[in-house]
Amino acid sequence: MQSVYEIKKEICDIGSRIYQKGFVAANDGNISVKVGPNEFYCTPTGVSKGYMTPDMIIKIDANGNKIEGKLNPSSEIKMHMRVYQERPDVNSVVHAHPPIATAFAVCNKPLDLHILPEAILTVGTVPICDYGTPSTMEIPDSLMPYIQKHDAFLLKNHGALTVGNTLTKAFFVMDEVEYFAKISMLAAQIGGIEEIPCSELVKLMDLRKKMQIPGMHPGCQKCDFRNTPKCMCKDNLPAAKACPTASEDLVAEITRKVMAAMCK
Ligand code: 13P
Repeated sequence: MQSVYEIKKEICDIGSRIYQKGFVAANDGNISVKVGPNEFYCTPTGVSKGYMTPDMIIKIDANGNKIEGKLNPSSEIKMHMRVYQERPDVNSVVHAHPPIATAFAVCNKPLDLHILPEAILTVGTVPICDYGTPSTMEIPDSLMPYIQKHDAFLLKNHGALTVGNTLTKAFFVMDEVEYFAKISMLAAQIGGIEEIPCSELVKLMDLRKKMQIPGMHPGCQKCDFRNTPKCMCKDNLPAAKACPTASEDLVAEITRKVMAAMCK
């Protein structure tokens, strides 16, 4: 188990990485880690996340109120807290403004191409959450349609948010999102994008299950059998317990279960 100092140090190290990778400018971005049901650590507001020291990290409760620390918690702490409320499997949240992924969010283009096995295994697709004023409840609310099926989100005209069972995982998801955005952009510039076919995506979903990759995944968005009982990629999701967000999904899920029971 990590000591408090090690947790604070790790937050500083990841802050330094996101700054050095150009995922944040100036004082942008924020990071949090859950250590208990009512105990979290987060980055302070208004400082460069590239130059933090462990003494700057704030301890907060589940409502985002400061318990310990010289500085004040991130202005976006409500967004982090909403994730923890909605996703008990999440122990860390990273918010950054990686330039290429953020450009997709500015152009209202989700990352929805099935082009790279690694991106498919890690995040699948990355949706765009409605624009909201930073620091208000508008941003946590904008996550709600997607929070049960995704570990990565683009925030319209703002940046990206990633979550994970560990801080390293949440950071790697952010890294993967920016790489996915970069390859999507370059491939679009070259022209003639060829996506990985649905039959292959089923195998990747199976691999994800075998590798026991934690977190939520939206499945294959372009599956020929999506929302029908034949949808293999959906069946293979480790996150099959995720709540369907649309009534159409719910009907499809019930139909699938009834059909499966009848075929036994
Ligand atoms: P904080 O410094 O308050 O965490 O805000 C940075 C940011 O990126 C807001 O979106």
